[in-house]
Amino acid sequence: MDTLETPRIIKGATRGLIGTVSLPADKSIAHRTALFASLASGTSQVVGYPSSADPQSTLSCLRQLGIEILPTDTGFDIHGKGLNGFTAPTLPLDCGNSGTTMRLLAGMLAGQSFSSILIGDDSLSGRPMGRIIDPLRMMGATVDAQGGRAPLHVQGTHPLRAVTYELPIASAQVKSCVLLAGLFAKGITTVVEHTPSRDHTERMLGLGSVTIGNQRHISVEGGMEIKPRLWSIPADFSAAAFFLVAGSIVPDSALKLLKVGLNPSRTGLIDVLRAMGANIVIENERLVGGEPIGDIVVRSAELHGIQVSGPIIANIIDEIPILCVAASVATGPTSISDASELRHKEADRIAAMATGLRTLGVELEEKEDGLLFKGGSTLRSGTVDTYHDHRIAMSMGIAALVSDGKVEINGSEIASVSFPTFWDCLEELA
Ligand code: S3P
Repeated sequence: MDTLETPRIIKGATRGLIGTVSLPADKSIAHRTALFASLASGTSQVVGYPSSADPQSTLSCLRQLGIEILPTDTGFDIHGKGLNGFTAPTLPLDCGNSGTTMRLLAGMLAGQSFSSILIGDDSLSGRPMGRIIDPLRMMGATVDAQGGRAPLHVQGTHPLRAVTYELPIASAQVKSCVLLAGLFAKGITTVVEHTPSRDHTERMLGLGSVTIGNQRHISVEGGMEIKPRLWSIPADFSAAAFFLVAGSIVPDSALKLLKVGLNPSRTGLIDVLRAMGANIVIENERLVGGEPIGDIVVRSAELHGIQVSGPIIANIIDEIPILCVAASVATGPTSISDASELRHKEADRIAAMATGLRTLGVELEEKEDGLLFKGGSTLRSGTVDTYHDHRIAMSMGIAALVSDGKVEINGSEIASVSFPTFWDCLEELA
């Protein structure tokens, strides 16, 4: 990625944002589509796969594992070869910036009959992998990583041991890693989650789950056959989130976001924004490929501060940076807590948002597990960094729209990790 790009300058909006935003396809669903189709016995058709860097990292790893991915008129076909169809890669598998690629693929590779190495960029190489190494070792896999960080050396073991694994943190990536490894285990592997995290893996693989008290037990049977199918990927709610906030806080705005994934394990931000006073309407709700989708209309509204903590944090984990922008301008204080996981994302998102927003004049306090906003801040001009994190870059872009001058954003090109057309969309609307 070109890091020598000139800083991007975004000026405060002088009128409302009006129109329809064209959003990228859902990154979480895309990774899983590609991974699951590669394990299916037969050819799956994929429509609407995103061109963004993260999902493309997943495709390139699968190609290295011998999976054919061939273009069609509507997208591409993935020629799955069943659970044991991968061939040993000759080079390390480069997951780029993508934690989902590394953590889910590690689960699948743990049960192979060959060894592989997973690598990533500087950001991914600094992120904690102990959270997947521990359960994979319990399952009998041999996974080595210095200091619990990538590169991950995975020596395939077949079959793995079926386990019941209680997630120590709310993480869909860890849950999915263990369930995918479970496909290569003898017997039934169960993951127990105390706090719900996004449930795409369970839905897309059709796995059974039971809720006992406040625990969800999700099970997979080793050797389960995955059927090839048509996959159509909805627009990414996490990308829509930037425009839900922009449409709310830029006066006189009315934005429509089409065919957005509305899986309830992802849409907590709608509840939070509505509780802050946002005007958000969902239209045309329907089910596509087991995932709910719909159109969202957002109109500007006077937002007020709120307290956000507890189980909803896992649901809105990727949306907290943009929520921070809403909290900055909302009337009255907002507190976000129980969110220390944010420190382990593509950047330390608590520190990154605190530094960037303070530079723009926002009054806030950084806490170990979140942030406290005074609220009602007027944002001024300034130069901010993206810390090589796509969601920080886009959040700063939206913050700039409510500044009374112009904001210079260094490293803005990182938005292409999940939303390559973000800056064009912003320019078009503003
Ligand atoms: C993801 C899960 C989340 C999220 C990430 C994508 C997924 O991470 O932050 O962007 O697709 O499973 P954790 O599960 O580690 O919280």
